[in-house]
Amino acid sequence: MKKPFIAGNWKMFKTIDEAKNLVQTIKAGIGKLHDCQIVICPPYTALCEISKLLQDSHLELGAQNMHPETEGAFTGEISPLMLKDVKCRYVILGHSERRQYFGESNAFINEKIKTALKYSLIPIICVGETLAQREARTQFEIVKQQMDESLKDISKDEMMRTVIAYEPVWAIGTGQTATPEQAEQMQSYIRRLLNEMYGKEVAGRIPILYGGSVKPDNIALLIQKPNIDGALVGGASLKGENFVQIIMNAQSQIEAGLQS
Ligand code: 13P
Repeated sequence: MKKPFIAGNWKMFKTIDEAKNLVQTIKAGIGKLHDCQIVICPPYTALCEISKLLQDSHLELGAQNMHPETEGAFTGEISPLMLKDVKCRYVILGHSERRQYFGESNAFINEKIKTALKYSLIPIICVGETLAQREARTQFEIVKQQMDESLKDISKDEMMRTVIAYEPVWAIGTGQTATPEQAEQMQSYIRRLLNEMYGKEVAGRIPILYGGSVKPDNIALLIQKPNIDGALVGGASLKGENFVQIIMNAQSQIEAGLQS
């Protein structure tokens, strides 16, 4: 049975107190539900406190970015060792907001992925096209280039410890979700690329998430598609009830699918 993988990217939101409250709401809301893999990615300032709150739960901790070096004169950056220090297990890399506002290239993202893997952090690697690229019908080419360049020289064994997130930029924070068909079309393409690059076994094991305006009322239709293994949720992960509802709806849809 597919185990839904739901990650919340809190972006630049939440003070430490707000973050703690949000985690308590999520923990209470999901109760003993264990059939779902849940990752939360708070801002750096809250990682340490949230890490303590997650010790007695099966929720896992992730960061939103990371520098490829372990230490050095990189003002304002955070290193993989620092993320390990606060017990992060995951790190989001190559998010479109990093690409767009901070000029991150596929080559730089590739360096980050390699370091994350070296220090046993699981990268959630984001790919996705802009609206202009989709309108020019170059979305498959763009995603292929992002995959080829950001996964350069990553071995089969390393690839087993990654997660891919397809986030079409035009669907992020806009309320305009990709249709389940549009998401599935790209995600089955990503699965095919992984198959060509790493073989069937690896391709079959890597969770491929969808991100972009995921809400409690659209997760069910998305998760029922064969190549949508879960979601990377932005705005709707900032409200405990919404995030919990997304998890519950994903889980119920998978159980319903099994019975039908
Ligand atoms: P929204 O869910 O707010 O569209 O954000 C998606 C996202 O960027 C998650 O990383």
